[in-house]
Amino acid sequence: MKTNRCIALAVIFTACAQLLSAQSPIKQVGKVTAVTVNNQDIDITTENAFVKLTVYSASIIRVRMDKQKLAADFSYAVISQPVKTKVNITQTNDEINLTTDSLKVNIRKNPYQVTFSTLAGEVINQDEAGLTTSWVNETVTTYKHMQDNEHFIGLGEKTGPLDRKGNAYTHWNSDTYAYTTGQDPIYSTIPFYIGVHHNVQYGIFFDNTWQSDFNFGASNNRFSSFGAKGGEMNYYFVYNTHIADIIKSYTSLTGLMKMPPLWSLGYQQNRYSYYPETEVMRIAETLREKKIPADGITLDIHYMDKYKVFTWDKTRFPDPAGLTKKLNGMGFKVTLIVDPGIKEEKGYGVYDRGIKEDIFAKYPDGTNYTGQVWPGWCNFPDFTNPKGRAWWGSELKKYADEGVSGIWNDMNEFSTWGQKAPDNILFNYEGKMASHPQVHNVYGLEMIRASYEGFKAARDNKRPFILTRSGYAGLQRYAAIWTGDNRAENDHMLLGVRLMNSLGLSGVPFSGMDVGGFTGGASPSLYARWMQIGAFNPYMRNHSGINSKASEPWAYGEEVLEITRNYINLRYRLLPYLYSSFYDATQTGSPIMRSLTIDYTHDDNVYNGQYENQYMFGKAFLVFPFDGVTNYGKFYFPAGKWYNFYTGEVQQGNQKTAQDLSIAKLPVYVKESSIIPMQSQIQTTVEKPTDTLYVHVYKGGINNKFVYYEDDGESFDYEKGDFYKRAITYDAAKKVITFAKAEGSAKSKFNNIKLLLHGFGDNVAVKFNGKQTKADNGFEALMVPISRFDPTGLSNPVEGEKVKSVTVKNSSDEFAISY
Ligand code: GLC
Repeated sequence: MKTNRCIALAVIFTACAQLLSAQSPIKQVGKVTAVTVNNQDIDITTENAFVKLTVYSASIIRVRMDKQKLAADFSYAVISQPVKTKVNITQTNDEINLTTDSLKVNIRKNPYQVTFSTLAGEVINQDEAGLTTSWVNETVTTYKHMQDNEHFIGLGEKTGPLDRKGNAYTHWNSDTYAYTTGQDPIYSTIPFYIGVHHNVQYGIFFDNTWQSDFNFGASNNRFSSFGAKGGEMNYYFVYNTHIADIIKSYTSLTGLMKMPPLWSLGYQQNRYSYYPETEVMRIAETLREKKIPADGITLDIHYMDKYKVFTWDKTRFPDPAGLTKKLNGMGFKVTLIVDPGIKEEKGYGVYDRGIKEDIFAKYPDGTNYTGQVWPGWCNFPDFTNPKGRAWWGSELKKYADEGVSGIWNDMNEFSTWGQKAPDNILFNYEGKMASHPQVHNVYGLEMIRASYEGFKAARDNKRPFILTRSGYAGLQRYAAIWTGDNRAENDHMLLGVRLMNSLGLSGVPFSGMDVGGFTGGASPSLYARWMQIGAFNPYMRNHSGINSKASEPWAYGEEVLEITRNYINLRYRLLPYLYSSFYDATQTGSPIMRSLTIDYTHDDNVYNGQYENQYMFGKAFLVFPFDGVTNYGKFYFPAGKWYNFYTGEVQQGNQKTAQDLSIAKLPVYVKESSIIPMQSQIQTTVEKPTDTLYVHVYKGGINNKFVYYEDDGESFDYEKGDFYKRAITYDAAKKVITFAKAEGSAKSKFNNIKLLLHGFGDNVAVKFNGKQTKADNGFEALMVPISRFDPTGLSNPVEGEKVKSVTVKNSSDEFAISY
């Protein structure tokens, strides 16, 4: 009797389970049914999916999955192929195991579940058992087990806190005028994040251009996940023992930035909009008169005839080539804004040529898609069509001929009034045809590709400066990015810092924000603080919106002007350091604004909301970006020894402190053992500094290596070896600073090197190549900013610090300074 009831219950239970599974709208990957190993590839068939694992390198494993057979491989982001890698793959009935020199992968077969571990067997990252990967209609999502105390950082230009734990994010490039500090999504998509827990850290790059969603434990306590509304599950798992190497691995996939033109690292003055020509000249002349170093003037949409791209308003700007020539002569480069919307207007040559070339995005019935933006009703170039990119490049030629140096790509999300461009717009997608939802997030990327390639060709291979608002993973190959229409508010300034730190973690070293704030008006103290922080940004541009308060450095009175000038001055003196840091970025993907999580990954304090805005500028400076109202700041100093940049005072690390703040000074510290090359004051990068390179070295207990780099600042000849580069190493134990033999065919612009030794004591005896040499007092060369409003009233910039210096003739030969 009992047995019969049991059987009956079992039958009902099985039937229910079958019903449930038959009805479940969620399709799981399921159990593995077949496996084929092909060198570095493992092809797996499961109940519901096709899976392919590829060993991209010892540190990078790619995972692809789809409900149907995997499509032909294609990516706008990834530009590299798998490298031949030593790998060991074994299989049993229950699992597949794969080992490289860097990591292990275990794939359970019933059901499919992947685990990445270190060679020692610590779990780095693992599919959440029971959930792994599934589909809801066409939306595919992978669920990863949330590890204890896991931190999540990166994901590109995402608002909110540094540590993304507990939050969820969407990627859908959006025009978000005056966005709030927690708004999501904003302008660009970089679906790459880094997870940190226990003693490990890893990166996941989800290369899917459809609208994607990331969940780092929002409304759930089980998993982190990433998924998209269409396309394949397609992610790259990256494991390295340092975050810097994870970024390097990620940029080995998506590419590195090229050397920027030197002038683009100078100060840029901007406004929506400077016009007419006389106003532009007034701004340029005032910058020079007031001795505010500057290299760029940027023209916003009012330079155009009724906002039509590739035209000039002839009344406001009767002689564009004449204007750029005059400005160039004063040491200014001109950057122009361009928008993708091309006004639908017969007789407007740009539009007519676009029609003739047939390069606009279309509806499925073959008519051009029309949407409204600045000039009114517009057609939109299809930048995913090689012909479209070539057409754009040919239109840009006109600006190149007119002496323009930079192209500012705006509204390329792409933005239309109404914000909801229809799904049924067709794009060429390199001949494969794709709809708007698939293309949307890469539209901006392909626009800047067209601008970069077109402008480079049009300017005889001079380095193009391209600025963008939107983009996708890999955008660093073509452009610098700025964080769009921020607000002139304290919190927004600090958000800007986090956005740039996050971009840096996501492979984009060259970024900026509208310094001073785009909407609204900053208070004088906020403005002063913002300009100070701006001096420690990769790209420094002051910009403000139409109808907002004037935002030039002199618009806030004498005191603020003085503070602002001090910091722009400092930026120019630091250019050898900054330029060399950019060189590092071109080699390793290393960011200029360097989140503290990169070097202090397993120090929980750096994720703490109280200290989350602190960052390194290059590898030497620790910047504390306090807002414009706080007059008492909380500081966290990570492990090591730090020097107050202004006074040379030593601050021990692993400590929290609180200090009074002054608006005249942004708190900046120097890491022990740092090597910081500087130059004399110049007003524009066109001006030659004196022929002495000042190399500041800070005594410390750790070894350091800084690669000093110079080239002509404007051509691509450096790719053919025309540069001057030498490694400067600091060996703390041996007490020696070595300048290695210079590499490259160029000569340095500095005939002398003056070494300034900080913290080495008053009576340090210095040897040059082993021979005793006379050290002098190097106070005058430290060149830190001071303000005459500085409460200490010091006219000596060193504020009491004892610095010894030694000057040597600069040749290409190796030399050593020991002490
Ligand atoms: C957009 C840009 C802004 C620009 C304005 C006018 O809002 O983000 O920087 O000034 O358009 O072109």
